[in-house]
Amino acid sequence: MRLMTARFSFLVFFFLLPVRDIASGAVHNITLSEPLFQNQTLVSSGQIFELGFFTPNGSKNQYVGIWYKNLRPSRIVWVANRDSPLTSADRSGKLMIDTDGNLKLVDGQQNIVWSTNVSVQSNYTAAMLSDGGNFVLKDKNSTEVWASFDDPTDTILLNMKIGLNTRTGERRVLLSWKNDNDPSSGNFTTGITSETPPQLFTWNGWTSYWRSGPWDKSTFIGIPDMDTSYHNGYVLQQDPQQGTTYFSCDSDNNSFLAYASISPEGILAVMIWDYGSNSWLKSRAAPSNGCEVYGTCGPFGVCNSINSPICRCVKGFMPQSKEEWNRGNWTRGCIREAELNCQKNTSRTPSTQVKKDVFVHMNQMKVPDSAEYLSNIGDVGGCQSQCMNNCSCLAYSFVSTIGCLVWAKDLIDFQEFSTAGQDVYIRVAHDNTGTSTGARLIISISTILGIMFVGTAIFGLWKWRASKRGTSSSCPMLNFTLNVI
Ligand SMILES: *[C@@H]1O[C@H](CO)[C@@H](O)[C@H](O)[C@H]1NC(C)=O
Ligand SMILES: *[C@@H]1O[C@H](CO)[C@@H](O)[C@H](O)[C@H]1NC(C)=O
Ligand SMILES: *[C@@H]1O[C@H](CO)[C@@H](O)[C@H](O)[C@H]1NC(C)=O
Ligand SMILES: *[C@@H]1O[C@H](CO)[C@@H](O)[C@H](O)[C@H]1NC(C)=O
Ligand SMILES: *[C@@H]1O[C@H](CO)[C@@H](O)[C@H](O)[C@H]1NC(C)=O
Ligand SMILES: *[C@@H]1O[C@H](CO)[C@@H](O)[C@H](O)[C@H]1NC(C)=O
Ligand SMILES: *[C@@H]1O[C@H](CO)[C@@H](O)[C@H](O)[C@H]1NC(C)=O
Ligand SMILES: *[C@@H]1O[C@H](CO)[C@@H](O)[C@H](O)[C@H]1NC(C)=O
Ligand SMILES: *[C@@H]1O[C@H](CO)[C@@H](O)[C@H](O)[C@H]1NC(C)=O
Ligand SMILES: *[C@@H]1O[C@H](CO)[C@@H](O)[C@H](O)[C@H]1NC(C)=O
Ligand SMILES: *[C@@H]1O[C@H](CO)[C@@H](O)[C@H](O)[C@H]1NC(C)=O
Repeated sequence: MRLMTARFSFLVFFFLLPVRDIASGAVHNITLSEPLFQNQTLVSSGQIFELGFFTPNGSKNQYVGIWYKNLRPSRIVWVANRDSPLTSADRSGKLMIDTDGNLKLVDGQQNIVWSTNVSVQSNYTAAMLSDGGNFVLKDKNSTEVWASFDDPTDTILLNMKIGLNTRTGERRVLLSWKNDNDPSSGNFTTGITSETPPQLFTWNGWTSYWRSGPWDKSTFIGIPDMDTSYHNGYVLQQDPQQGTTYFSCDSDNNSFLAYASISPEGILAVMIWDYGSNSWLKSRAAPSNGCEVYGTCGPFGVCNSINSPICRCVKGFMPQSKEEWNRGNWTRGCIREAELNCQKNTSRTPSTQVKKDVFVHMNQMKVPDSAEYLSNIGDVGGCQSQCMNNCSCLAYSFVSTIGCLVWAKDLIDFQEFSTAGQDVYIRVAHDNTGTSTGARLIISISTILGIMFVGTAIFGLWKWRASKRGTSSSCPMLNFTLNVI
């Protein structure tokens, strides 16, 4: 019922829109004979998106971009010529289709400042804007030859893919604006990694800035509040044969408006339009605290945002530099207190006397970066013995929705959550945690009771939210209740 009400309101909303006619400059396609001039805009058939020329506040530059037609504040979701602007004083630029079939942006002096640069079979092409925000160039047969979705700016829309193709070298990422009034290429990039399982990543230049943790076929496990409790629209497809990994949030029809974008300051945020308050609501932003910034506590450091200080060393490790660590500079991280038994030179002592290493258990963890996935291991015991029997293996975690993950590199970007998270086992020479078996049993029982309590509470909350929401298909980071007008 609620869903129908929401959809109905949505339709009413659109029927009440003032319909602009051609005289006011709205057109529905660009063709060889009909370019788009600066006094015109290209509008999607359902009046949801609009493409045209714009000049950011306080800027001397002019760009071609796509924005939401009827939302205030609107939002520029794509920019064609971000690094090759027209001057704002140029009044005779145009976006045209050339005789080679390509879209070209020409300035007042007829210089080509931007082009789709594809090879087209026929010289009759037309460009139009879809209600999903995709600006497409089609040939005579209506085959898509170029699409703005294939060339993202800083924003991902519903049904738009980001990812990469290791065969062709294509890397489809979001790249931040320089600042709020300058769409030129900024410092932060968000994309998908090609590892198995893949992660969503934000980089500052070439430096890691934030990571989602591995994909577990429905969520990224390093985002603790990513809602897994109902069917979601997130899709991540990896094809090792083709070398492709693509991620998108798919929505069957435009029953809601949402986007995710990377800000000039490196914050990846998911925004949803709320028809009730007529405003954008922020559903999630990352990183949202110091612990979410990549590698805050350095190698073998553990971050917990509710502790003070937020960083500590994994048990069995100590700060590499006590002095820097105590000053709150944790980036150099922690080193082992005792050499691993498996690394000791066994030629001097009979191997029977060499003690086995042990594993320190940590729970509710964001698993560290650079995991290796071992296939065909069905349980935690198998995962543990694989790790124990290989001295290069520094830690393991058996994630029920993924399988066996092991680490052969320093554990970095390791975080402790208050809820959810994974069990991670770290190899050390001795278990010097100082906890007796009896005490550990008590801890285990209280942990189990705690999990049961939290589980019940979350389930209750989910039931409540699900009943409030009433929608069955949206994306988990977009956990938000449609407000009925
Ligand atoms: C472009 O739009 C005009 C008028 O809206 C229409 O007559 C024409 O068929 C359209 N062309 C294409 C290729 O869609
Ligand atoms: C829009 O601009 C073009 C070229 O600058 C001009 O030819 C046309 O008359 C203008 N149209 C309107 C409606 O102002
Ligand atoms: C531009 O400035 C005006 C007035 O200061 C403000 O209302 C508007 O939101 C600004 N637009 C953008 C895109 O920042
Ligand atoms: C475009 O195609 C038409 C018909 O196929 C042809 O007459 C014309 O010469 C072509 N133009 C160019 C520039 O190739
Ligand atoms: C157009 O594409 C060709 C081949 O793909 C490339 O060599 C050329 O540099 C491109 N031109 C522009 C302006 O991007
Ligand atoms: C368009 O379709 C026809 C028949 O389906 C085909 O022969 C022709 O090559 C196609 N043209 C282009 C440009 O794809
Ligand atoms: C939504 O999409 C589904 C299938 O994708 C289709 O059956 C249904 O008719 C669509 N609803 C609307 C309102 O467009
Ligand atoms: C982007 O990087 C440059 C050079 O490192 C720096 O000066 C600038 O402050 C950075 N901008 C932001 C928004 O972080
Ligand atoms: C923290 O330590 C690293 C490594 O020793 C050093 O490069 C960096 O400048 C230090 N940062 C601060 C803020 O002191
Ligand atoms: C192990 O000890 C032997 C004898 O002391 C020495 O020759 C060898 O280089 C050592 N190996 C390593 C890896 O340290
Ligand atoms: C031990 O682990 C490392 C790192 O995961 C791996 O490269 C190596 O192949 C493993 N060795 C054996 C014998 O499994």
